[in-house]
Order: sequence, then C-alpha cells, then structure tokens
Amino acid sequence: MLTGVPAAQRQAIKGHPPGVVWLTGLSGAGKSTLAAALETNLIRRGAHTMLLDGDSLRSGLNSDLGFSTHDRAQNVLRAAQVCNLMVDAGLLVIVAMISPLAQARELARSQLRHTAFLEVYINAPLAVCELRDPKGLYKRVRRGEIGHFTGVDSPYEPPLSPHLELHTDAMSPDQCVDQLVFLLKSHRLLPPD
Ligand code: ADX
Repeated sequence: MLTGVPAAQRQAIKGHPPGVVWLTGLSGAGKSTLAAALETNLIRRGAHTMLLDGDSLRSGLNSDLGFSTHDRAQNVLRAAQVCNLMVDAGLLVIVAMISPLAQARELARSQLRHTAFLEVYINAPLAVCELRDPKGLYKRVRRGEIGHFTGVDSPYEPPLSPHLELHTDAMSPDQCVDQLVFLLKSHRLLPPD
C-alpha cells in the first residue's frame, strides 16, 4: 500500500476488489478490441476500471523502448508496475499487450503477487491476424520495412495454462466479452448478476 487508506475501505467504495486481466496474443489477434469492449461492459456494471494498451504505453511511458528481447521485457515490467499502482487505487485493470515472452509475463505476475491476476490468451492463427492486418503492419513486414515482428521473425510463446483462451477467429467479440465477464465473476472480481 502506498497510502494509509486501507484496501478494504477502497474496496467498499468501489464495490468490487481490484484485479488485473492481462490479455496476451499476436498483433491483430483482437486484444485491443476485446479490452475496450470489456471495459465498456464493466463500466456499464458500475465497475471502476483502467485500460493499459501496449500501443498507448509505447507512445508515452515506454516510448524509449524498442522491440528487442530486453526492451519487450522492460515494456511488460513497467506495465506491471503501473498495474500495481492502479491496483493500489482499487481498480480493475485490463492490460492489452502482445507480451510475447512467458518469462516476462511471469515477472509481471510476480509483481502482482497479492492481487488476482488473470492471464487470458487471445488466440488467432497468424494467417488470420495477417489477413485482418488492422494497422497495415504485416504488409510492411512482408515488404521488409519492419523487422523482429512478433510471430513472423520474433518469437511468441503462448501461455501454457492461461485462465482463459479465446479463439477470436471462431467467436464473436460479444461471445468473448461474455466469457471474460464470466471469468471475472468466477474469481469474485464482480458480483454475480
Ligand atoms: S510487446 O511485444 O512489447 O508486448 P506491445 O503490445 O507493447 O508489444 O506493442 C505492440 C504494438 O507495437 C503492435 O500492436 C504494433 O502496433 C507495434 N509494433 C511495431 N513494431 C512491432 C514489432 N516489431 N513487433 C510487434 N509489434 C510491433
């Protein structure tokens, strides 16, 4: 705790405990879309949330970092430290980051040892992500303009035992959000309906 306000008092004000939902997966798998849709759903339920997206962190706090193994690990570690502060504030934090390396995700989890930390694998085959190509990045990768791209010439290590795995090539965003909400309820981060 950073302040003298007891966590229980913050929880009573918020109406739910704090926690972290960490979405990992390839670029184009649907992390940002689902994170935003989940946050909208949670806000409608009166929850207090914060969304941390890899792209927006990289435009500010993490703007000094690139895509080397070291920098990606640092990127994830800093996000986890920000999560820690948000958790101290009593929020449900949704993280949407590729976070490709299992060891870095484990380090993130270890930063949040006393908090519910739910790892969710947003799984879509590379071919599907490449077809979606929402930011036109895969095209640039294939043209040789971007190197070390996750899933192409930089590794992605899928979680071995995530709390939830969502196949976004087979499920609608609404179905995915329903499963995420169910996950939060089953870990008592949200009250039952
Ligand atoms: S992470 O690997 O370090 O966890 P993060 O989620 O923060 O990645 O940022 C990924 C975003 O950076 C992608 O959605 C994409 O917009 C952009 N990006 C630019 N270069 C790369 C690259 N070489 N590999 C992956 N993403 C990249």
